[in-house]
Amino acid sequence: MSDSKMPMIIAHRGASGSAPENTRAAIQMAAEHGATWIEIDVNISKDGIPVLFHDDGISRCSNGEGLVIEHTLTKLQSLDCGSWFSEQFKGEKIITLEECLELAAEYSLGINLEIKPCSGWELPTADAIAKLLTNKRANSDNTLPPIVVSSFSHIAMQHAAKHLDWLARSSLFLVTPPDWKSLTTEVGASAIHLHANSLLTEESVKELKDHGLHVYCYTVNSADDAKALISLGVDGVFTNYPKTLLAELP
Ligand code: G3P
Ligand code: MG
Repeated sequence: MSDSKMPMIIAHRGASGSAPENTRAAIQMAAEHGATWIEIDVNISKDGIPVLFHDDGISRCSNGEGLVIEHTLTKLQSLDCGSWFSEQFKGEKIITLEECLELAAEYSLGINLEIKPCSGWELPTADAIAKLLTNKRANSDNTLPPIVVSSFSHIAMQHAAKHLDWLARSSLFLVTPPDWKSLTTEVGASAIHLHANSLLTEESVKELKDHGLHVYCYTVNSADDAKALISLGVDGVFTNYPKTLLAELP
């Protein structure tokens, strides 16, 4: 099984402090800012195509209304996903997971692929993503970058463990749950991703690592906060500002 080890700095939703999250612009900027890995959120359209989008609803990050799952890919592709961030990114489009994989291969980026289903759509979302990746692998597609799969949805992670067992998996939580050992073991996770304010201590990080898990925290936008977490033994952080953190951390 692959290992979920990633570098110390991962660009969260691309360089999402500098460009609209989860877009081509944010991914390109992450690479330009020196990141070697990105985190992305993947949902599906009404017609079952995996696309990059964080929220269930499309109104915060586009000029549309309703849920991602309520719109076909063609409709989603007609939206402006950049103006909400700044005029400079007006006309930025939603991108499909397939386009993101090609982009990552072009820029030599690893991907933490967070399965981000609309509520109730956990299984179809995980399934569409698994089928796309499995097909690419079967066709020896050279656009497949290194990938670590994660999700807050245990259903999605169970599906990934079954159908994407050739990819590394990380369990994703807000805070370490009491049953973290069984949850991570059940999905074959080799890392745990936790909120930066999840009250980690040197002891709790050691316990996770002694159990064979890498530990990553989201979302850390100051170098001092990143250094504090690294000093506890955390392996790396997700940040909206990879350039800032890379300038101050190795
Ligand atoms: O995968 C880490 C982090 O992205 C999880 O939270 O809400 O930013 O997707 P969120
Ligand atoms: Mg995410």
